[in-house]
Amino acid sequence: TPSRAEKICCLGAGYVGGPTMCVIAKKCPECKVTVADPFADKIAQWHDPDHLPIFEPGLAELVRETIGKNLFFTTDLEAAIQEADIIFVAVGTPTKTVGIGSGHAANLCYLESAARMIARVATTPKIIVEKSTVPVRNAETLMRIFTTNPESARLFQVVNNPEFLAEGTAIPDLLRPDRVLIGGQTTPAGHEAVRRLADVYAHWVPRERIITTNLWSSECSKLVANAFLAQRISSINSISELCEATGADVDEVARAIGMDSRIGAKFLKTSVGFGGSCFQKDILNLVYLASSLGLQQVADYWEQVITINQHQKARFTERIVHSMFHTIAGKKIAILGFAFKKDTGDTRETPALDIMYKLLEEGANMAVYDPKVPDELLWDDLTHGPSLAPKNARPLPLRERITHVTDPYQAMEGAHAIIICTEWDEFKTYDYQRIYNGMVKPAFIFDGRNLLDHQRLFDMGFEVHSLGRRP
Ligand code: UGA
Repeated sequence: TPSRAEKICCLGAGYVGGPTMCVIAKKCPECKVTVADPFADKIAQWHDPDHLPIFEPGLAELVRETIGKNLFFTTDLEAAIQEADIIFVAVGTPTKTVGIGSGHAANLCYLESAARMIARVATTPKIIVEKSTVPVRNAETLMRIFTTNPESARLFQVVNNPEFLAEGTAIPDLLRPDRVLIGGQTTPAGHEAVRRLADVYAHWVPRERIITTNLWSSECSKLVANAFLAQRISSINSISELCEATGADVDEVARAIGMDSRIGAKFLKTSVGFGGSCFQKDILNLVYLASSLGLQQVADYWEQVITINQHQKARFTERIVHSMFHTIAGKKIAILGFAFKKDTGDTRETPALDIMYKLLEEGANMAVYDPKVPDELLWDDLTHGPSLAPKNARPLPLRERITHVTDPYQAMEGAHAIIICTEWDEFKTYDYQRIYNGMVKPAFIFDGRNLLDHQRLFDMGFEVHSLGRRP
């Protein structure tokens, strides 16, 4: 393998920048990799492998192996930029909450300030890698910022290199990616920049899995990949409702259609709705882009993926209330799982929050258990409420009605119902006979992930509600 000793830096020490740089540092020992972030707390946490700011299996080991050798974390962004040949920009691009395009458009202010800082500080040639998920043609904005000063314009090449890792599997996804995508300008200098970044990945990714294209196709592919993945979940979730109404079983349908190699078996698991920081944000971004370009049918088509997702969360909650004799006021309900999926402590856009808010409005008392979600994060999310819900005028009595427990059995003791919101493996291992004995009867289980063995629970006496299947 080629081994040009690139100096690499990454602006943004979050879910994308952190793990990606750890893997590059590990696989490219001759490169110096520096992760820079203005938040001193976050940088301090990266220095302590036992308390990293994010939880990812295998990440702590990688940090331990490389930190101080060829991996460095710093708050000194300017020095990191100065020194680097290749600069990854992995700052957040969340959905705007105010102003033009609010609720749909991506907030690009962090990206723009990163670009302006690079333009101001750089004195040597740089390859700027757009790692953050961006609207199509965003690289054009970056190039304009870099070329406002003609003196420095020749220093910069912008390439797009979207990240496809999923949370909870970041390290294996980075080590064995389905593909690495790099988009660049179709000029000799553009091709050269793409080639240099490809050489970094070629240290561990087979060449045939590194695909190169132009900037706009690369930017577009990222949004479209997430839109397609989310669309599969909304598609199967819409069918779950049809199954409940007809007596078909959604998991059987998913199995049957998934064996068609053109459809494929993955991402067909029905759920209470998808969450996570990306799917909703990226689709809203795509919808905004299409509609700003006057492509209303395209925008409406993709907006439906979000509509179904909201509907799935709402109808699940309605089913809970209706099954429990149309009132849950004052009843204790155990919420199992608050993270947006298993094996992560991340709660961004978690469907659990929408459900809890609706149950709160109905007057329920809740005990929440999640193996990974920190206490402050839970309360912070509860205080802010779900992102797409209308902001509640009167403050809900959160602390009186919700308790956060560290023992799942404590959550379920004396409860009228158990609601599974996240597909944590440990939920399958509990002693449900003991749990049943301690619950108010009828003891309800609403399995929002079709995770548990429903026949067994039914035999114990539980009233079990599955998704996409008649009770
Ligand atoms: C997603 C994509 O899978 C990654 O490829 C992408 O890089 C990432 O977004 C991103 O853009 O950063 P992530 O959000 O970490 O990754 O998690 P997923 O595993 O995709 O799950 C998203 C949501 O869909 C979760 O709430 C999950 O429980 C739900 N889901 C997933 C289902 O309800 N059913 C399924 O069959 C699969």
